[in-house]
Amino acid sequence: MAIEIIGTGKAVPPNKVTNNDLTAKIDTSDEWIRSHSGIGSRYIADENTASSDLAAEAAKNALAMAAGYSGDDLAQRDKAAAEIAQTIDIIVLATVTPDFYGTPSTACILQDKIGAINAGAFDITATCSGFIYSLETAAGFLSINAQRKRALVVCAEVLSKLINWSDRSTCVLFGDGAGAVVLEKTGASSGGLMHTLLGADGSRHESLMMKRGGTRFPYKDGEVINKTDSAHCTCVEMNGQEVYNFAVKSVTDTITSLLKTGNITIDDVAYIVPHQANSRIVQAASNRLHIPIEKFFLNIEEYANTSSASIPIALDEMNRSGKLKKGDLILTIGFGGGLTYGGNIIKW
Ligand code: ACO
Repeated sequence: MAIEIIGTGKAVPPNKVTNNDLTAKIDTSDEWIRSHSGIGSRYIADENTASSDLAAEAAKNALAMAAGYSGDDLAQRDKAAAEIAQTIDIIVLATVTPDFYGTPSTACILQDKIGAINAGAFDITATCSGFIYSLETAAGFLSINAQRKRALVVCAEVLSKLINWSDRSTCVLFGDGAGAVVLEKTGASSGGLMHTLLGADGSRHESLMMKRGGTRFPYKDGEVINKTDSAHCTCVEMNGQEVYNFAVKSVTDTITSLLKTGNITIDDVAYIVPHQANSRIVQAASNRLHIPIEKFFLNIEEYANTSSASIPIALDEMNRSGKLKKGDLILTIGFGGGLTYGGNIIKW
């Protein structure tokens, strides 16, 4: 038995915002953002778009590909996606920006939008490691029950609505987007998802937080929500230097562990697909491990940091552009709030 990826998809909002566009509203520069993060632009959702909207588009693209359609005609895509959607047994959706907090899950809203009427559905919160955690979770659901054959993993984020746009040290780093993969349990003796490593260091949970609005610091009667003051809004707060140090160590340690667990060398690996948080993190890991930077797939320049969605967005780009060949070994590496980290070895 193998758990294989049979379709990939992505979706971003149409509104592309460059670094230079941001300088009209924020005290920053294209030079600062590029030199500190590698980011050149990001896509920003309009006020009517929530995470489930992007999730549905990415999911339809992945489902249609799984059904054999990879073209641009939306009517044909939707028809192909709708048929196979009914064969999905489980939907696992990773997000830190759900449509609603607590209930309903964004996965249930997605299930309705794509007509996956036979699927169970739930959300995962593992921040930027969401894809790594979700893939392993979905594969586990397929492995444990002979009746289940297909799973849909979707990572969707509308971070732009939960960013403090007056905090220039975080707001320039993030973008909106969604990525999806369809998993199928096949009779192959090997291939697909080969190994997963999951880790967390909860002692550092304060390094990256959305403090307000939960049961620890609920909003109080009469409190005025102020989206430019993190004391009075649910927004991303980050200790950049601490997260940076954690990220470099996580990426290097996770790559080293995966190579050991898989009993492979870096020469066996076609691509490393890291969470796209900051190109400097990837460069530092590349230097430390003496792995050529070309081995790492990077598209942060265009999309910025889309949290859990960044790895499946990258996989879809690589897949559709023909970069990934059947049998290629790839490592996916995630890290983020929690703090969480992890990685997968996938045989394409
Ligand atoms: N434009 C211009 N100047 C800025 C900006 C900006 N957007 N943001 C900060 N600065 C200034 C600061 O005010 C500071 O000025 P000062 O020295 O006069 O006080 C100076 O730039 C340096 O600021 P630092 O915060 O020290 O900059 P640093 O070199 O640490 O880079 C960064 C900041 C890019 C956030 C870095 O710490 C980093 O990459 N951290 C990891 C972030 C990350 O990976 N997050 C995501 C992981 S988890 C997830 O994906 C949700």
